[in-house]
Amino acid sequence: MTARSIGWAAALAGAALAGVAAVGGAAELRGAGPRVEAGEARGWASRTVWACDRRKAVIVEGVRPDEKLPPARARLVAELLTDLMRYCQEEITARVGIDETISVEANGRVHHDYVPGGPLPIAKASFGDPSPREKQIWKAELDRMVQEGDRLFHSDELGTNGIACAMCHPDASNTHPETYPKFQTQLKKVALLRDMVNWCILNPLEGSELAENDPRLKAVEAYILAKRAGVALEAGKH
Ligand code: HEC
Repeated sequence: MTARSIGWAAALAGAALAGVAAVGGAAELRGAGPRVEAGEARGWASRTVWACDRRKAVIVEGVRPDEKLPPARARLVAELLTDLMRYCQEEITARVGIDETISVEANGRVHHDYVPGGPLPIAKASFGDPSPREKQIWKAELDRMVQEGDRLFHSDELGTNGIACAMCHPDASNTHPETYPKFQTQLKKVALLRDMVNWCILNPLEGSELAENDPRLKAVEAYILAKRAGVALEAGKH
């Protein structure tokens, strides 16, 4: 163990003893992810980057929390996070030192001089596909959204004149979601599927446009896309 890595181990132990207080700003970001201790504990400013799964974090030393990562560092962080996604269910914190050496903490153990792609002694059992129960829940949630879209698509709720999408697009026919984004002459710009949904709400249905984050817009989009499952994407096709 180098003097520097002992410093980290001590900082980890200290953070554990002091609880959340020692974690500082990182605690607010933490969510369900791994525990992240403050870089300041080791005397370096640091910036923490989380992977999209919120289970992996990389602490980059020598960069302030409000400072952009220099390009080489940013690439290293992306490479490291992508690499650690091998351990998809695992909570892992990596630390890139100012000398670019990498330490990785997983399952309460710290592994030094880690090279992305190299082996990590993490139990195989923690890889794993989603459980049947998880898959059931995910499918039920999706089905619920698609069913709501189906209902809206067949109702006159989105407009004011009693017309429903399904009257012109039975079974979501001729909606061609797989061709988006594409230039739409009506809109005189490149449109996403949701822009065309809104256009048809405005025009044949004489309704009001839905906001981008409106759950009804998402549901209609989900329904249309679900109807075209398996069709190859062809952005821009006319
Ligand atoms: C009065 C008939 C009518 C109604 C009602 C209608 N549409 Fe359309 N829709 C059209 C026509 C006509 C087009 C234009 C087809 C084109 O440009 O290729 C179109 C185009 C679209 C497209 C783009 C298709 C493509 O090929 O790119 C989408 C998506 C769409 N409609 C969704 C909806 C939705 C969602 C609703 C309900 C909110 C709806 N439409 C209601 C007639 C209708």
